[in-house]
Amino acid sequence: MTRSAPVSPVARQVTCTAPVNIAVVKYWGKRDAKLILPSNSSLSVTLSQDDLHSRTTISLAPTHVTDRMWLNGSECSVPANERLVNCLAAARRHREALEKANPELPRWSTWGIHIGSENNFPTAAGLASSASGYACLVFTLAQVLELPLTGPELSRYARLGSGSACRSIMGGFVAWNMGTQADGTDSQAYQVAPETHWPELEALILVVNDAKKGTSSTVGMQTTVATSALAAHRFTHVVPERMRAMETAIADRDFAQFAELTMQDSNQFHAICLDTYPPIFYMNDTSKAVVHLVTAINRLMPTIQAAYTFDAGPNAVIYAPRDHMTRLLQLFTYFFPAPTDVSTRDFFNDPYARVPEGVVLGRDFPAEYQAVRDTFAVSTPGAVKRIIHTRVGDGPRVLSSPEASVLNAQGLPKSLK
Ligand code: DP6
Repeated sequence: MTRSAPVSPVARQVTCTAPVNIAVVKYWGKRDAKLILPSNSSLSVTLSQDDLHSRTTISLAPTHVTDRMWLNGSECSVPANERLVNCLAAARRHREALEKANPELPRWSTWGIHIGSENNFPTAAGLASSASGYACLVFTLAQVLELPLTGPELSRYARLGSGSACRSIMGGFVAWNMGTQADGTDSQAYQVAPETHWPELEALILVVNDAKKGTSSTVGMQTTVATSALAAHRFTHVVPERMRAMETAIADRDFAQFAELTMQDSNQFHAICLDTYPPIFYMNDTSKAVVHLVTAINRLMPTIQAAYTFDAGPNAVIYAPRDHMTRLLQLFTYFFPAPTDVSTRDFFNDPYARVPEGVVLGRDFPAEYQAVRDTFAVSTPGAVKRIIHTRVGDGPRVLSSPEASVLNAQGLPKSLK
């Protein structure tokens, strides 16, 4: 019989969740790759953790001899991950400074750290998890080490893990100010508006089927900075004005403005990817069909109905006010039918009950949009693998229930893969 390692009576353990965010003014380009300092400011919407989140448990104990980490149940090497090492070092340095200033504090900065982290969305969905993952890591570290940090200060630590992670430290609408300091002390996130400001804003994530592995954001954006003349124009002449316009659109809850800026910024991000040498293509034919459909329905109706945006992959994120969601769901499920081997419930499970009784998704076509019915081809079933419905949400949360923990009392994974 194997015996598990004795647990230290003083061990500390904290579990938290952190949200995903999807940018409406995109971050693409670094001026300092080590400190992860961006070439332009960016702005995103934090999505609800009730739908998508990373969950991280940190166990801190004098008996943990080395730092260890398990991601979705599999152990990964801590020393091999420079960004993870940087986040841990920054948090420990901070704790050490507090301990030096007050010798009565326990010397937690010298203890070993075990990290267990999981995403509640499948990696196969192709959704980037680095933003929620690193935001959750540093938020949990700050809790377990009792670091008295403001949101913007904490966002600087998350930035060391992944640029976009700094925006997942807060809920609602979040901007990342690129800053000008060489040491990154002013390159941090701030909340433009809380999630309560515009609760009607919702999002659909169309998970697009794509066999090939795309260029990683980190590698892609370095090549863009090195080769794209268009990117230089974007950094200096487009983004500063667009950030101001986007903040105003959000403050005014002006969906037409918000949508137009969001779509224009997504288009420009993909344009600088195409201007990269050699070029980078993230959108595929299904992504392009989504752009055409959204453009057509926006043209057809008297007001803008929806905004599309695409990150470093073919998935579409559609922002729209709650009132438009039923019709949009009818349209997307009609033109992008579920894979033949997937049940309707697995394709789209309607968490916010937006499909009225009697309406059959994929079959019933909304009357207002009859004009687009004949102009668009229905895609092959499964071109979109799954539709996730979510909305604007809050920042990271601390979970108090022991059941929520990813690690057991010994600081080891509850389940291994
Ligand atoms: C297209 O934050 O993943 O999603 O800082 O190298 O980790 P690193 O890159 P990452 O890039 C995100 C790029 C984007 C746009 C955005 O989220 O703003």
